[in-house]
Amino acid sequence: MSMETKHAKKEAIADFIKRMELGQVPDEEIRKKMRTLVEKRLKWGYKPTHEQQLAHLISFIQSLRSMEMAEEVDTLDAELYEIPLPFLHIMCGKTLKFSPGYFKDESTTLDESEINMLDLYCERAQIKDGQSILDLGCGHGSLTLHVAQKYRGCKVTGITNSVSQKEFIMDECKKLDLSNVEIILADVTKFETENTYDRIFAVALIEEDVSILNHWTLSGKHPSLGFKEWLKRLDDNMDAVKEIFESFYGSKEKAMKWITYWRVFCIAHSEMYASNNGEEWMLSQVLFKKI
Ligand SMILES: C[S@@+](CC[C@H](N)C(=O)[O-])C[C@H]1O[C@@H](n2cnc3c(N)ncnc32)[C@H](O)[C@@H]1O
Repeated sequence: MSMETKHAKKEAIADFIKRMELGQVPDEEIRKKMRTLVEKRLKWGYKPTHEQQLAHLISFIQSLRSMEMAEEVDTLDAELYEIPLPFLHIMCGKTLKFSPGYFKDESTTLDESEINMLDLYCERAQIKDGQSILDLGCGHGSLTLHVAQKYRGCKVTGITNSVSQKEFIMDECKKLDLSNVEIILADVTKFETENTYDRIFAVALIEEDVSILNHWTLSGKHPSLGFKEWLKRLDDNMDAVKEIFESFYGSKEKAMKWITYWRVFCIAHSEMYASNNGEEWMLSQVLFKKI
């Protein structure tokens, strides 16, 4: 590609992002762009010969091994996880689960999908009353609180890097009269402890130094439906969301930018997970055993 073409491409992308942040790009255009990106990404994995295909796969696996468990931790903290709580109450389901739910059938609501998935985690991790549980990257405590309520004899420890998430969970524990929960404010990539746990969850984080006992996949249809629900809730409550973001970010302009980011986040993920009827990008649940 010539320097001029590269430059023109960069300018076109910058212009697209600027229009998008101002809320001027119609949803259909964003969806079309996402479908093009998905197609490109799928082609990236397919090589003309089986040797090339295998070499490509091995080099991809090696690049994953050398990756950090979480990257740009400081930026992530501030921008992604300190989100105004009233907004999360609007967009997410009742447990504020910030990862996919499980939609058993077409009548499943977002709230039900969250509980279904939390129950599935417990079943597949073989949770029993009395165990000690560690929930890495616990978010607003969907799993931590679910386990603590369902198995009162379990001692559940959640780790998060977000002050507001910790405060939220501790408040919920008071309301629910739970004394079997501890929340530690820490960076999981640096966290060290002498304690041992019967079960360690890492929902939407990566664990290492373990062997695999069992592995399940769930169709991409589940997260795709969840992201569609989030978008619908956001759009149905647009006036309230605008008010929350204007007061949180301090201006109408910034509020519009963040509303657009969240809308694009939902649209892009629902498109990606829906591709090829949920058979290309999916959810993976892995039962590990410490070596
Ligand atoms: C995608 S959310 C998932 C939250 C929760 N597991 C759930 O399913 O609702 C990722 C969570 O991990 C936390 N997190 C991300 N990087 C972390 C780190 N380096 N140390 C501790 N927590 C981290 C975030 O604050 C957030 O709560």
